[in-house]
Amino acid sequence: MICPFCFEKEPVICANIRLYDCFCYFKYFCATLSAFFAFNYIENKIRKGKKDGEILAFIEVHNLRKVYRIGNEKVYALKNIDLEIKEGEICCILGTSGSGKSTLLNMLAGLEKPTRGDIFINGTNIALLSESKLASFRQQNTGFIFQSYNLISQFNALENVGMPLMFKGMQRKKRDKLAARMLELVGLGKRMKHRPNQMSGGQQQRVGIARAFVAKPKVVFADEPTGNLDTKTTDDVMRLMVRMCRKYKITLIVVTHDIEIAQYTDRIVHIIDGEITSIENNVSVYKSEDDTEQNENQKKREDDTK
Ligand SMILES: Nc1ncnc2c1ncn2[C@@H]1O[C@H](COP(=O)(O)OP(=O)(O)O)[C@@H](O)[C@H]1O
Ligand SMILES: [Mg+2]
Repeated sequence: MICPFCFEKEPVICANIRLYDCFCYFKYFCATLSAFFAFNYIENKIRKGKKDGEILAFIEVHNLRKVYRIGNEKVYALKNIDLEIKEGEICCILGTSGSGKSTLLNMLAGLEKPTRGDIFINGTNIALLSESKLASFRQQNTGFIFQSYNLISQFNALENVGMPLMFKGMQRKKRDKLAARMLELVGLGKRMKHRPNQMSGGQQQRVGIARAFVAKPKVVFADEPTGNLDTKTTDDVMRLMVRMCRKYKITLIVVTHDIEIAQYTDRIVHIIDGEITSIENNVSVYKSEDDTEQNENQKKREDDTK
């Protein structure tokens, strides 16, 4: 009789033991082997990216890939992205339309799941989190600024800014106080009761910025935040974002196609066709809060003398 497992007519194992025993041993062998591979896989998933004795960067991306399927066709939006971002860094992802910037930002912000790869934020691999844990992680740790502001049209500025605090379960009185302080900080102290359609694009984006920063997240993501604004308002908005990040030591990742925007950041990550082609250090136009305040005081003095 042929052994169904080693396919030998007179197999070495089966020659000495009964077929039934051979089957049992084979089952145990398979179970041990599967457990070994499963353990290794999970351990790799959790520890991946951490070299011996090395501390993880604030944001670490390893081997990130995103493939969209449209019918039978596959779109490789991101191909094997590796990236590290330090805490408090202001980083720009720069690329032309369709290069994969928004896809990368959405993965980093936990808005979309990658096809493959790991994304560590402050030591947590968000690629492995369940939808509910991911939602809670986003709420506790991240803020998002959108090109089209995404304010709630029925809410006024104060209510829009208070939204992230409401999701955190903060009481109305306290969140109104914090939201009001944040609106003062972005120069909209006199627009608190205004609804989005009663404000200019620049003012709406200031509300968007106040909303992103009000809960003091660890990281803020901004997708083409000045895409709908004129040059002067773009400068105001970028300076404001940089100032807020420096003030609260918040990491900022800005996505843009505009090299001028990149000049406000500490590091520029160039992306082409879903791949990082180069990363360059940059001296931000507004490096420190002191510089910014000096610039603003100087500007005020100039305006006063006009
Ligand atoms: N939901 C989607 N389904 C299918 N393809 C998508 C989807 N989102 C993005 N893509 C494709 O992925 C590529 C990168 O898109 P995107 O990240 O939006 O680029 P960018 O923000 O740099 O303009 C593009 O080819 C785009 O068509
Ligand atoms: Mg985009």
